[in-house]
Amino acid sequence: ARTAAVIPAAGRGVRLGPGTPKALRALGGTPMLVHAVRAMAASRAVSLIVVVAPPDGAAEVSRLLHEHPLPERTDLEVVPGGQTRQESVRLGLAALPDTIDVVLVHDAARPLVPVETVDAVVAAVRGGAPAVVPALPLADTVKQVDPQPQGSPEPVVGTPERALLRAVQTPQGFDLATLRKAHDTVVEGEGATDDAGLVERLGSPVVVVPGHEEAFKVTRPLDLVLAEAVLARRRA
Ligand code: CTP
Ligand code: MG
Repeated sequence: ARTAAVIPAAGRGVRLGPGTPKALRALGGTPMLVHAVRAMAASRAVSLIVVVAPPDGAAEVSRLLHEHPLPERTDLEVVPGGQTRQESVRLGLAALPDTIDVVLVHDAARPLVPVETVDAVVAAVRGGAPAVVPALPLADTVKQVDPQPQGSPEPVVGTPERALLRAVQTPQGFDLATLRKAHDTVVEGEGATDDAGLVERLGSPVVVVPGHEEAFKVTRPLDLVLAEAVLARRRA
């Protein structure tokens, strides 16, 4: 099985605040995207990485990535992304050659995922699961609410049993044909917030394997503080 990784990196990072697109922000002096690419390249299973760049930034991202060489076994391609994450992933999948049969989809915004997690996802797909997601139990209790205009208290509708919930990370791993079919079938805006969610809508099985604390997503400014601390601890 030849395995590729698609890295959606086309988002602006609105929740992180104004500045450079999120994937290009520095972490320990190196762009977040470079960390994410290295995290995928660290897995010996991954032979091709497709980076999905901001729509107007593919040339810049290409140049940047060529300044940070990868292991010889890993090919790299950069394609322009779209207006939504789902569209960006679809554009990344379209760039994969027929020789690929397993694909990982990994957020550039999860730069610090350990290689053990990547390998565990690949192993589960190669072991026969068409869709695999790494995930962790929740620390917080979760409430379902009836959303109200900003500032108004929101009535609680229910409390799902926490022990049954998992917080899902990336890389998510798929049989390529299964994920392509999901992206071709499920229309945008139906509320799927991850790739496995699209596969679930097809009625195909999705399984969870253990995720990792360091695979957290850099979303808000405090996440950058944590990411810098994790990097500093690794370098110590
Ligand atoms: N992404 C993408 N194309 C988009 C939107 C998002 O490739 N049109 C990517 C982001 O670059 C990121 C991943 O999807 O690596 C997860 O999205 P998220 O964390 O929401 O990043 P942003 O959309 O950039 O952040 P925000 O929602 O705060 O603007
Ligand atoms: Mg987003």
